[in-house]
Amino acid sequence: MEENSRTSFFITTPIYYVNDIPHIGHAYTTIIADAISRFKKLAGYDVFFLTGTDEHGQKVEKAAQEKGMNPIQLADNVVVRFKKLWDALDIAFDSFIRTTQPFHEQGVQKIFQKLKDKGDIYKGIYEGWYCVSDETFLSEDVPLEDGGHKICADCGKKANVVSEECYFFKLSAYEKPLIDFYQKNPTFVRPKSRMNEVVSFVRQGLKDLSITRTTVKWGISLPDDSAHTIYVWFDALHNYLTGIGYDRDPQLFDKYWPATLHLIGKDILRHHAVFWPAFLIAAGFPLPKTVYAHGWWLKDETKMSKSKGNVLDPWTILNVFGPDPLRYFLLREIPIGLDGNFSHEGFIHRVNSDLANDLGNLAQRLLTMIHNYFGGQINTPGEETDKDKKLRLSFDTLKEKVGHHFEDYAINKALEEIWVYINAVNKYLADNEPWKLSKDDSQRARLGRILYQAACALRGICYLLYPVLPESSQKMWQLLGEKKPLEEELYSELAFFNLKRDQKIHKPKPLFPRVDLKDFLKEEESMDIITFDDFKRMDFRVGEIIEAERVEGTDKLVKMQVNIGKETRQMIAGIADKYAPEELMGKKVVVIVNLKTAVIRGIESQGMLLAAEVGGKAIIPVFTEDVPAGAKVR
Ligand code: ME8
Ligand code: MG
Repeated sequence: MEENSRTSFFITTPIYYVNDIPHIGHAYTTIIADAISRFKKLAGYDVFFLTGTDEHGQKVEKAAQEKGMNPIQLADNVVVRFKKLWDALDIAFDSFIRTTQPFHEQGVQKIFQKLKDKGDIYKGIYEGWYCVSDETFLSEDVPLEDGGHKICADCGKKANVVSEECYFFKLSAYEKPLIDFYQKNPTFVRPKSRMNEVVSFVRQGLKDLSITRTTVKWGISLPDDSAHTIYVWFDALHNYLTGIGYDRDPQLFDKYWPATLHLIGKDILRHHAVFWPAFLIAAGFPLPKTVYAHGWWLKDETKMSKSKGNVLDPWTILNVFGPDPLRYFLLREIPIGLDGNFSHEGFIHRVNSDLANDLGNLAQRLLTMIHNYFGGQINTPGEETDKDKKLRLSFDTLKEKVGHHFEDYAINKALEEIWVYINAVNKYLADNEPWKLSKDDSQRARLGRILYQAACALRGICYLLYPVLPESSQKMWQLLGEKKPLEEELYSELAFFNLKRDQKIHKPKPLFPRVDLKDFLKEEESMDIITFDDFKRMDFRVGEIIEAERVEGTDKLVKMQVNIGKETRQMIAGIADKYAPEELMGKKVVVIVNLKTAVIRGIESQGMLLAAEVGGKAIIPVFTEDVPAGAKVR
């Protein structure tokens, strides 16, 4: 297709706060966006997928202060954590925007000025309550609590009093235009129940919105009134414009704006469905097509959130399973819009049953048979019978349904359909019993047809699963002998018999190993999370081993004198099976020096050296540059 004849599709995630590291909730939105964007690319759309970080405001300012850092240092650190996680989850975003980037700051200032010149922004005084955790002003009707304070209705935290000069945006003037817009665009907010919520919120009346702060320093400043910084939500929402070239790359901007899909969590619906279109109408931009608000992942029936301390770290799963099982679980378990309860039990169960059993076994079994019976190449499959034809025709139906579900962002339904088909292919093999036919030479062509037909089905399954399981689909694709990258085949080109008859198919490799729940939980328990303060309590130093001798009567123990700068300590370590004492002499190692003295075989050990444990043996890390004994290690 011609580059410029393709329909553009601009998809965004929220930009996440950098007050803390990402958790499963952030991963969820970003995985949905990635799966939709991969599907849309297959379907031939010209996709731009934007994500990023929201770095200004009081919440980040406060978090940085508590950590003894500058806000930008904190942001820089956390951005690395986000990018690392997105990489590990195979998130193929087209751009990652940070609101501290100068082009964004300038873009926001420009739009602010535009609204001010137009008369939509005026100076006044804000008196009311503010929730730092949500970076949101409380509505006036929130009642006072007994202690004389207010509680944020959304997150349940104590709000702060604010009384300061500010600039207001005339949100009240947009009540009517918003209602008109919602009426003309009933799918602007999805799911439908959320659209109704938004409409009734706006119908209750809109108050003007404070969009600057004088008591928050960490924000975009107003060029002509430097006592003010721009309210973090006004700043953040405009990333959707600056991120695709507003005021910077008009060609890019015109190609992708208005956004096709803003994916968000339901916690930030009002900001996206009320404030955002009002700002856009005021500034004269066309409005986004859809704001889709998904539900929350809960842990023990409450929303997973950093501030509640009940977040699940995606890495405990990623380290064991890689990206695809987590992507699959999150997308399969609930429809976008409903809440889900996350449990490791539920995760392991679903992954073992769907990925390891249904899909993994199908691929493993089929490819093994193709190898055992045909050396990996089915040259002359027999005629297609009615039963075989049924498998092909139901794939055509599946392709259509899956396409439709993806277009409708109903990824869980697409996956459900694909699994119905996977089980049909499993049944096809079970019914046709190729293992029996393999014993009869006269059935060779028939056997070839059955395996070829099933391999065609597997190729199709693999293609349809690519948006959700990019890593394993591509592996399977290659095992099936495909040379062309999967994503180069357009959805419209996908057909059952695209697998060449004489294609050389590779030996199977296990794609989804079964993990035992008990083993996983054991590992999970041993992952005891400590705080940064816990970590800071440990005093690690560079130690130089100046003497070393084997502890008599033992195979493993070495007694060492270790120079840690101001003093020399005696330490015992179980490393003699790997290192001879004379080899250790002069080595610079990492030791913990504030560990309680231990007595080992009657000998005092006043510290411990760090070593990797590999196959029961200890291996000492070494420095790549010279370091003085006693230097602190952190
Ligand atoms: O709100 N379940 O950033 P944020 C599902 N910076 N999704 C969850 C979740 C959970 N338990 N917890 C978080 C902000 N999310 C603003 C956005 S956009 C212009 C500015 C996801 O770091 C979900 O997408 O608090 C939610 O909307 C988002 O993270 C909030 O991230
Ligand atoms: Mg939040």
